[in-house]
Amino acid sequence: MNLDFVPESTRAASLGALMKGAGYLVRFLPLPQPTLLVGPGSSGRLGAAVAGFGHRKILIVTDKVIAKLGLLKSLTDALTAGGTEYVVFDEITPDAPIPLIERGIEFFKEHECDALVAFGGGSSMDAAKAIALAVTNPKPLRQLAGYFKGLRAPMKIYAVPTTAGTGSEVTVAAVISDPERESKLVIVDPRLVPKMAALDPVLMTGLPPAVTAATGIDALTHAVEAFLGQWATPYTDDMALTAVGLIFENLRTAYCEGANLEAREKMSLASTYAGIAFTRANVGYVHAIAHQFGGKYHTPHGLANAIVLPHVLRWSLPAVTERLALLAVRARAGNEDEDEETLAGKFLEAVDRLNADLGIPLHLAALQEADIPALARAACHEAHTGYPVPRYMTVAQCEELIGQLLPPTAAAERDESAPASRRSPGRNSPARKSPARKTAARKGATGTGPARKTTAAKKATPRKTPR
Ligand SMILES: NC(=O)c1ccc[n+]([C@@H]2O[C@H](COP(=O)([O-])OP(=O)(O)OC[C@H]3O[C@@H](n4cnc5c(N)ncnc54)[C@H](O)[C@@H]3O)[C@@H](O)[C@H]2O)c1
Ligand SMILES: [Fe+2]
Repeated sequence: MNLDFVPESTRAASLGALMKGAGYLVRFLPLPQPTLLVGPGSSGRLGAAVAGFGHRKILIVTDKVIAKLGLLKSLTDALTAGGTEYVVFDEITPDAPIPLIERGIEFFKEHECDALVAFGGGSSMDAAKAIALAVTNPKPLRQLAGYFKGLRAPMKIYAVPTTAGTGSEVTVAAVISDPERESKLVIVDPRLVPKMAALDPVLMTGLPPAVTAATGIDALTHAVEAFLGQWATPYTDDMALTAVGLIFENLRTAYCEGANLEAREKMSLASTYAGIAFTRANVGYVHAIAHQFGGKYHTPHGLANAIVLPHVLRWSLPAVTERLALLAVRARAGNEDEDEETLAGKFLEAVDRLNADLGIPLHLAALQEADIPALARAACHEAHTGYPVPRYMTVAQCEELIGQLLPPTAAAERDESAPASRRSPGRNSPARKSPARKTAARKGATGTGPARKTTAAKKATPRKTPR
């Protein structure tokens, strides 16, 4: 929807009214929620429960890393003990590309399965969801993208997340990628919510620190965007605020001490609560922009969100100062007796500090200046056709925001050739002002190279990774 020709105030008012209307509808839409099994060993308990449901054969959808790490064992042992047959499809790669999902659909049919266990990060879980819907609605996957495009209900899905980030175990969405069109597609259907999910922290102890960081900030972004958007309800607020509190309390520990089961379990709960919040209240510009980076440059989803989040928060600040102040209190970045503006500023700084401590770069190394107009157009289209954002931006404003993510050399080249109005933000730009950003800059963190070493990063226990 190109609305740039409409004056900003009219556009904001009409889109705002439209999104508010949609929000009231969503509020009354009954969304299923899975039975949750939580704690060490819960993936085995899920296997035992699923074995009791009398399925003929289960398809476990996962990726090779997870299969090689032996993470399926508790689940498969329990299925075998319960006398239920299963087959494993472990070909999914990050962002669930369509051709691999098509292979999964064939595999499901070939083995005459009748239910699925989605086992892995968001990529494996969403691939499983897409397979489940496509086998009962045989049409090209691209035609299943969008809202309620499948006539028939998907096959039954059970979920075991192995990252604490996407919340896909409780959401109505499956995000897949279309390598041909360099884009991401979202399939939305309440029947995609798994029937049961296990949050088993034992599976997450070997998650590499960089993936822990990126997926953790994905969960934070879900909670924050759900809390700031126009579809927020008291229920989603509770979920989002609890998630924000848990993330600020536990993400640094999960990042530095991967084997800390308590931090891992709390992060997986946070991710699920954030999922419950955003599957009702939706997301915003951070996701709209991050999806374009994922489609174009294969930037990991959580990392893309983490880089974009501080900029969108600064853009949204005037419209949501009071809400940001509430987030600051929950993140323990300030006290209730401080004024709203101070608190809102403190939340922005707390996000900067968290990003810096987790080694999140300030810039997107892959970003090309020439791509920015198309990326901004696509991001605004995605946001303005689906997300209840608290403050609208024009495509030009979105281009400017994305321009701030250019690696410094590219930004400097652009500044030399661009008119003053298009230059990247100077020293007084809010995005450059926070103390954490200054510290990171002093340490030479440009985001174009390896993650910076902050105090927390230095403490990180090196862990063997499978890759
Ligand atoms: N359905 C939704 O509601 C929803 C919400 C947000 C994001 N997503 C989508 O989810 C995808 C991203 O998922 P993700 O961030 O969980 O990453 P991912 O599933 O792509 O996994 C990232 C990497 O971590 C590895 N990994 C996963 N678990 C591991 C473990 N326990 N130990 C060691 N390695 C492990 C994987 O093999 C992979 O290489 C994106 O496509 C994103 O768009 C979906
Ligand atoms: Fe996300």
